[in-house]
Formats: sequence, C-alpha cells, structure tokens
Amino acid sequence: MIYGLSGRLQTNDFADLAATKVLITDLENDFAVARSAGCALCILANHAVDEEAFIFPNTARVENKLTAELILEHHDLTRRELEISKAGHELLSMDSPDARVRFGAQVNLAANQLFGAYITHMNREEAELVPVMREHFSDPEMAAMQGKILGAMPPDRMFAILGWMLPSLNVSELSGLLATLKGAAPPPLMKAISDLCTAKVDPERWNAAKLRVGL
Ligand SMILES: [Fe+2]
Repeated sequence: MIYGLSGRLQTNDFADLAATKVLITDLENDFAVARSAGCALCILANHAVDEEAFIFPNTARVENKLTAELILEHHDLTRRELEISKAGHELLSMDSPDARVRFGAQVNLAANQLFGAYITHMNREEAELVPVMREHFSDPEMAAMQGKILGAMPPDRMFAILGWMLPSLNVSELSGLLATLKGAAPPPLMKAISDLCTAKVDPERWNAAKLRVGL
C-alpha cells in the first residue's frame, strides 16, 4: 500500500484537479482503514491501535523501554498522517493549478517522510520486538495475542487488509495460507477469499497457488 501510494503521488499531475481529488480521496481512505473500516492511512492507523491493545501490554512487562519507544513512534506516525490528510484538503481547495503543483510537491515530500518512518518502524518491530517476544512467549501465547486482534476486527476491515496482504504474498506464502484456510474456513468465507484473490492477486501467482493447494 505504501509503495503504491508513493508511486501514485510521485506521478500525479497536481494541475489536474479531478485526478488529484481521486488520489487524495484514496490516500485518505487508505490512511483511514488504518482508523476505521473504510479507510491506506486508516489501515496504517489500526496497526497502532491493535498493537497497543493486544501486543504491547504483554511486551511492556518484559521489555518496557523498547515498547515505550514504539508507542512514541506510533504517535509520531499518527501526527504525520493527520497532517498529510489536512494538507490534502488544503491542496484541493486551491484554485491555481500552479499553486497546486507547488503544494503537491510538498505533500509528496511529507508523504515520503511518513512512508520512510513507517517502514523503519515496522522493520524495528520485526528486528527488535519479535526476537524479544520469541524469547519470552510461547507459540500458543503469541497465537492467543493474534487471535484477540483477529477476533476484535470487523469483517470489512479484515477483508480490506486481506486485499492488501494477499497480493503481497509470494507463491509459497499464499499457498500455505490457503492450505490452512481450506481445512478450517467455512465454504462461504473460502469463496470470498478466493474471489478476492481473483480480483487482487497477480494471475500467474494466483494460478500457481491454486495448483499447489488443489483449489
Ligand atoms: Fe507498530
């Protein structure tokens, strides 16, 4: 999602108001799945909400300093997301195409800074927090944390996230996920996920995964 938005911001013609409106709306919607069920910045915001509700209370007991630093990073990311959303509205209110082009370049820079910080944050969680969790928690304990996140997630947000996640998996990862679901998910859910793969996943990768899993 971040790479996609970044590419679109880079190539958008801010003099074209109609195209810019579509981009800013998508940007806000994406930021908002992070915050509500409909909205890339939003998928980005629920990252913080889910971790702070179901992961960090546990990790704070065994690694308080790192956990506190990651929470501060979440606050910084949220602040940047709100600033960019606000700047997007300001951009759309500008009548002059030249002014939009100049301000659009600034929004692009601010978004690049957000995306850089976001990726650095997620790498830090993988590189620093995940090893701490593996040291202090068993697999069932970590599965329980994951289960609480999934259990509290509205279905529409889960599908919005899957819409980003499924096309980002390689063939082995996608096949593994589908094989697990095939044995456990009710048929309507399996069909909904299969339809989502048809719509979102690269056809070659999707066909290869179907072959491997026997769908
Ligand atoms: Fe995080």
